[in-house]
Amino acid sequence: MNFEFILVEPAIEKHIALVRLNRPKELNALNLQLMGELRDALKSLDDNDEVRVIIITGNERAFAAGADIKQMAGKTAIDMLQIDQFSTWDSIRKTKKPLIAAVSGFALGGGCELSMLCDMIVASENAKFGQPEIKIGVMPGAGGTQRLTRAVGKARAMEMVLTGNFINAQEALSYGLVNRVVPEELYLDEAIKLARDIAAQSPIAVQMAKESVNKTYENHLQEGLFFERKNFYMLFASEDQKEGMAAFVEKRKPDFKGR
Ligand code: HXC
Repeated sequence: MNFEFILVEPAIEKHIALVRLNRPKELNALNLQLMGELRDALKSLDDNDEVRVIIITGNERAFAAGADIKQMAGKTAIDMLQIDQFSTWDSIRKTKKPLIAAVSGFALGGGCELSMLCDMIVASENAKFGQPEIKIGVMPGAGGTQRLTRAVGKARAMEMVLTGNFINAQEALSYGLVNRVVPEELYLDEAIKLARDIAAQSPIAVQMAKESVNKTYENHLQEGLFFERKNFYMLFASEDQKEGMAAFVEKRKPDFKGR
């Protein structure tokens, strides 16, 4: 499998595949091409009988710092609707095999959402999670308002989504967002260890069990995702979105007007 923005190892060890997000200079910002590649890789690994568990990781500095702001900055609400990037996310969500996110550094915006779309998260001590979209004049669009609220509860999700402030790995652990926190040099090994424990089980039982846990976790999720998506698109009709994203690109503070 040859991709530009991800690296795929179908067998990092027996039955365990590794997908590495690989745009290091941009802190693995999730542009449309990267997400399309991730969708295609996961589909292929899901169809591969040798693979039982899939780990998604980034690098030490960033799992992913969000959707690519530079790619989105000039878009209108109708552009966003027509680009329909979330159909890619919907395909990824249909992966039958367990997905483990191995997170070091920034997991922000779409990066935090991607980690939450995985079934489990192993975090390095230096991991930082956040939904900072509000700081660039928009809001989460790929499940942040839905999955974060389910994972950490309303009060904490509300604070993270409305302030855009990050939480560190220990906070993420105490909030129940991540499964475990380990020293930076061990986060990938720890994810592999967890994958090994799962890969030793019956693949068909694992698949059914994942589907069953998601049955309750995803109860009403689809309606929430759809609602969030529409609000996210609508914000691309605002001046504040243009100002917020231009300010990020120009490395200055945004001046929001509420229009
Ligand atoms: C595009 C990004 C980016 C992003 C970082 N970069 N995040 N480019 N989109 N989301 C680029 C920077 O512009 C910079 O490029 C390079 O990566 C290194 O980043 P720096 O900002 O110089 O690093 P640092 O000072 O260490 O700050 C790290 C950071 C900051 C705190 C993570 O980069 C940041 O705030 N990033 C944006 C986080 C964010 O708002 N995420 C949400 C996006 S919206 P140059 O060329 O200057 O070297 C979103 C919506 C999801 O995710 C819904 C749809 C899927």
